[in-house]
Amino acid sequence: MKRILFVTSECVPFVKTGGLADVCGSLPKAFDKKDYDIRVILPNYHAIKEDWRNKMETVYYFQMDNRIYVGIKTLTLDGIQYYFVDNEQYFGGLVPYYDMFQDLERFAYFSKAVLSALPLIGFRPDIIHCHDWQSSLVPVYLNTVFQGDPFFRGIRTVFTIHNIRFQGTWDVGHIQWVSALPWECFQPGLLVSPYQDTSIPRENWNCSMMRGGLVYSDYITTVSNSYAYEIQTPQFGDGLDDILKWRHERLWGIVNGIDTVEWNPYTDKKIAKNYNTRSHKSGKKANKVALQKELGLPENPEVLTLGIISRLTDQKGLDLVNIIMDELCGSREVNLIVLGTGARNYEDMFRYFEGKYPDKVRAKIMYSDDLAHKIYAGVDALLVPSAFEPCGLTQMIALRYGTVPIVHAIGGLKDTVEPYNEIEETGTGFSFNEYSAWALMDRINHACWLYYDRPSSWNALVERGMKKDWSWKNSSEIYKDLYSRM
Ligand code: GLC
Repeated sequence: MKRILFVTSECVPFVKTGGLADVCGSLPKAFDKKDYDIRVILPNYHAIKEDWRNKMETVYYFQMDNRIYVGIKTLTLDGIQYYFVDNEQYFGGLVPYYDMFQDLERFAYFSKAVLSALPLIGFRPDIIHCHDWQSSLVPVYLNTVFQGDPFFRGIRTVFTIHNIRFQGTWDVGHIQWVSALPWECFQPGLLVSPYQDTSIPRENWNCSMMRGGLVYSDYITTVSNSYAYEIQTPQFGDGLDDILKWRHERLWGIVNGIDTVEWNPYTDKKIAKNYNTRSHKSGKKANKVALQKELGLPENPEVLTLGIISRLTDQKGLDLVNIIMDELCGSREVNLIVLGTGARNYEDMFRYFEGKYPDKVRAKIMYSDDLAHKIYAGVDALLVPSAFEPCGLTQMIALRYGTVPIVHAIGGLKDTVEPYNEIEETGTGFSFNEYSAWALMDRINHACWLYYDRPSSWNALVERGMKKDWSWKNSSEIYKDLYSRM
């Protein structure tokens, strides 16, 4: 029996802002309970719904370092035991994340609290699997502050990068203050870049918590093969390419899966009409009309309908969308439905285009799981023009729902969407290599042509996509292989 602890800042169904929550919610379920005892620990945010919070039981509480309160709560769901680190002062707000300055202290506390709690709650994992910068100090604390304690001897660590853009970066002075890590951690090559200019005072050196996770963990993974290569280059490595290149033999790219029970057009209760590979033509039309009706768009099952379901941030290629909007809506027979929240400029941009093209564009600036299901089922194609994309889950969900992805061939998008080849009649979507508005528009034009002028080829494309397997079956085998080496 292998005992594994996932440490994460978000996890479905409790709290979600992005794909990290989906992965931490679905991956543990892909392991056989006879051989793996996988548990998950996350903060007990006030943002977690009352219903869940009422179901939690207190396991233990104590004062960490004789001064800071740590409560550990737990609940079991679908056979997985979840732990929640409780502290009103740090996690009592209405949202999971504040600004970076405050989050550094909150997640340094979280990481240390996780390790401090383990001997007290009766769970000694063989492997601690950390996700993203919020838990990246766990391997650092384990190999420094907790090293002398026999309880922790032999515990191995994996660190998974879901997004290298967010690292928990500040100056050494502040990060040392909030983490209380020994000063020797803050040397160039450890939590500090080996290229740091050391002629300036040490307090002012740049420090990255994620770098600590990469240096101190036994293995590093990221969420697709292509991204694993990309982050070893200065263009995508966000200042960490040196350490990733240096440790490349310990860096594995393992593509994410999705929860194929939650995301199944044949059984999905949130959509107007269920369908499968044989009934997708009528199924998608019915869902499209239901969606148009709900959103107040003219009801027309024939119009090519595009969707964007995304956090509205710079990562997601919305600058390209901005450039093509007038050409797209002014001269093409298309609808565009957008769902998401994020940066103010992108929210306003989509609101503006909804005002300008009221019969074609809908901007739902909100987070809604129900509406996401309806959009996946009701649109014909999904735009994912991300500038960079560690994995991306929406394109996989789209494929399963017979919705053709139009993507920038980068990171996980490149690994999961096979470009349409008109001569061989192969592929599952449209993809462009050059990150430009022109290249995106060109792929949309191609999609328009295929949809309106070659419907049988379009339908064959849809069916090839729907038949792909996005469950965790393959990738969980790779994680098992990884765990077995540790
Ligand atoms: C982050 C990445 C996304 C990935 C997800 C889950 O949100 O931006 O590409 O799919 O993490 O790993």
